[in-house]
Amino acid sequence: MKRWMKGIAFTGALLMTTLATTHPTPQPGSTNKKPFGKTADGQQVDLYVLTNKSGAEAAITTFGGAVVSLKVPDRNGKLADVVLGYDSAEGYVADKSYFGALVGRYGNRIGHAQFTLDGKTYTLAKNNGENTLHGGIKGFNKAVWSAKTLSAKDGQSLELSYLSNDGDEGFPVDLKVTVTYTWTDANALKIDYSATTDKKTVVNLTNHSYFNLGGQGSGDILGHQLMIAADKFTPVDAGLIPTGELREVTNTPFDFRKPTAIGARIDQDDEQMKLGGGYDHNFVLRMPMDRGQSLAARVVDPASGRVLEVWTTEPGIQFYTGNFLDGETIGKGGVAYTKRSAFCLETQHFPDSPNKPKFPSTALSPGARYHTITTYKFSTPK
Ligand code: BGC
Repeated sequence: MKRWMKGIAFTGALLMTTLATTHPTPQPGSTNKKPFGKTADGQQVDLYVLTNKSGAEAAITTFGGAVVSLKVPDRNGKLADVVLGYDSAEGYVADKSYFGALVGRYGNRIGHAQFTLDGKTYTLAKNNGENTLHGGIKGFNKAVWSAKTLSAKDGQSLELSYLSNDGDEGFPVDLKVTVTYTWTDANALKIDYSATTDKKTVVNLTNHSYFNLGGQGSGDILGHQLMIAADKFTPVDAGLIPTGELREVTNTPFDFRKPTAIGARIDQDDEQMKLGGGYDHNFVLRMPMDRGQSLAARVVDPASGRVLEVWTTEPGIQFYTGNFLDGETIGKGGVAYTKRSAFCLETQHFPDSPNKPKFPSTALSPGARYHTITTYKFSTPK
């Protein structure tokens, strides 16, 4: 080979290696990091793509710790992305729907944007009428998290950490938060949340993924069959704040103890359904005797054969049917996200617990560790 030809071949090979490292084709059983864009103040945001041994994929961004995509097989082995999201960090910066995000310090609502803890009243940022929703104006979903890949025996793990400062959105005390996502070889996304504090505060962390088991952009989720392991739910007022009652689901559209199509009763003439504009309610899960995870919900998409099970250590789950999606938000691949084109199953402590002494407590004391686990398991049973 002539010298100049060798030169070109060498440059070409070098270029290909460089491309392979910046935009590698995901290899089974690997984690790849890529640039995902920037925040408004110029901070670099990354995307971690976790590919398990069978080639199914979970992509997570450092912006808001959001799950950007989950590619899982249907009954014929065909992968589809079953969550809503955006193609780059800029989408998440502008987002108002909490697609895939880690939500904190307090997932769900706190009534009248205030609470009292040990005799002291704290006033929070209002971002939902009179109330605080999902941590306030700049919740954990708007923060850039530090990321570290970890080795896991059963899949790929990503550890995200964030320090929320004393006074952020009105919440007291510095709070150190670590969330570890593990994408297992069995197509389960395990989320391990922990937090510690130096002084007493309140914490309630969740993930806000919007699922469509037919694949994002494949239509509405009204035909999905849902089971929720709850005998009671927490009815709400006009601001979607729980009234404090734990109401039996019997003879209401909230009875999902037997698998029922999400759309079967959604437009029923029911006061609670009208207040939510569909389902937007916390269910009281049957708590197990031990402290492990128990099955909270199971969703089946008869069309694709995909099944999602939600397992958790938490006492509650918010079932939200994307009632506020209006087709104005354009997501991944240019898809317009329309009303009820996805559902959320947000594991949590009950909304407004800091103001509801009868609800399980969300207070965290120094020396104690906040620790909850939720797993989203995908399968295609025959
Ligand atoms: C809430 C909804 C809200 C949605 C997006 C859900 O957790 O319950 O009322 O619109 O999050 O913010």
